Amino acid sequence: MITLGIETSCDDTAVGIIRTAADKDEILASETFTQTEQHACYGGVVPEIASRAHLEKIDITIAQALASANLSIADIDLFAAGAGPGLIGGVIVGLNMAKSLALSTGKPFVAVNHLEAHALMPAMFSNTLKFPYLLLLASGGHTQILWVEKAGAYKLLGATLDDAAGECFDKVAKVMGYNYMGGKYVEEEALQGDPSAFAFPRPLLHSGDFNMSFSGLKTSVLNTIAKEGLARKADIAASFQAAVCDVIDAKMRACIDAGYKGDIVASGGVLCNKTLRAALERVASDTGVGFFAPPLKYCVDNGVMIAYAGQERFKLFGATPLDIKPRPRWPLSEI
Ligand code: KG4
Ligand code: ZN
Repeated sequence: MITLGIETSCDDTAVGIIRTAADKDEILASETFTQTEQHACYGGVVPEIASRAHLEKIDITIAQALASANLSIADIDLFAAGAGPGLIGGVIVGLNMAKSLALSTGKPFVAVNHLEAHALMPAMFSNTLKFPYLLLLASGGHTQILWVEKAGAYKLLGATLDDAAGECFDKVAKVMGYNYMGGKYVEEEALQGDPSAFAFPRPLLHSGDFNMSFSGLKTSVLNTIAKEGLARKADIAASFQAAVCDVIDAKMRACIDAGYKGDIVASGGVLCNKTLRAALERVASDTGVGFFAPPLKYCVDNGVMIAYAGQERFKLFGATPLDIKPRPRWPLSEI
């Protein structure tokens, strides 16, 4: 079975094509048009600009994915699209495109929850990863810890009560003078800095549950920059990054201590951060579980994750009726 997946929930128009195989599924194409430049001067994603850009690029992204897989539209057996959560204008574009392709080719269609796609995709890259696993999902919009029992069965253990970890990286980057989605620049700064130079708060560290909070940490960092200026930018970045990692580290250990002991799996754009990856690897080795994260390219939003989750859902639950609506909010608990 060959599945084409479309992702348009934020600022990337992405299309992935995969082939299902008994032993290992194969990625045939992964194409992304990123809108970073269109949004950069506004300091964040502008939903109306995003929807228009998706509309402009969706056809060409699909055509490029088909060309790089050396396939035609008639070769596709299943069409999948992210149906939410996300920016509604973008989701409408990808969802309607996948429905239209399914309708016009007479092939089945599957609607995919964006978070489920992040949650399931690591399994595509590992033959040894077994359910249940403990998933950290850390992106610009989400920071959640989930117990993934099997495809389609997720238990939300904890989540941020305010800002997502990636959002904080982006805000800190912005006041340091970097373009939006600047998490990677904060990491670069942090490489030159001392993580113990500033004692930033670690909110909810001992709260006894698995929830997180990052907005107090963010405010503390922004206040420090307002007071001190940017002369010690690298130390501030390193100390901020250390605080984020400590919070996530503590919450993952708390989950394992509470009996959610399975391999640690991590995904979402913030997992590009090497210090966070190293912290999670340490938690895994200290607690005797495995650690797995998809290759960096597939930690961020991509079309392959939608194709993979679509294929898994299709195997389990069959096609989605074409009257399914796009959902700006769609918690995994409502799947
Ligand atoms: O998953 P993603 O590509 O998009 C969604 O939010 O869905 O995640 C993007 C987020 C942004 O907040 C970005 O600044 C952050 O991931 N990020 C990083 C790094 N690379 C990307 N944060 C910290 N360190 C990085 N190296
Ligand atoms: Zn995402």
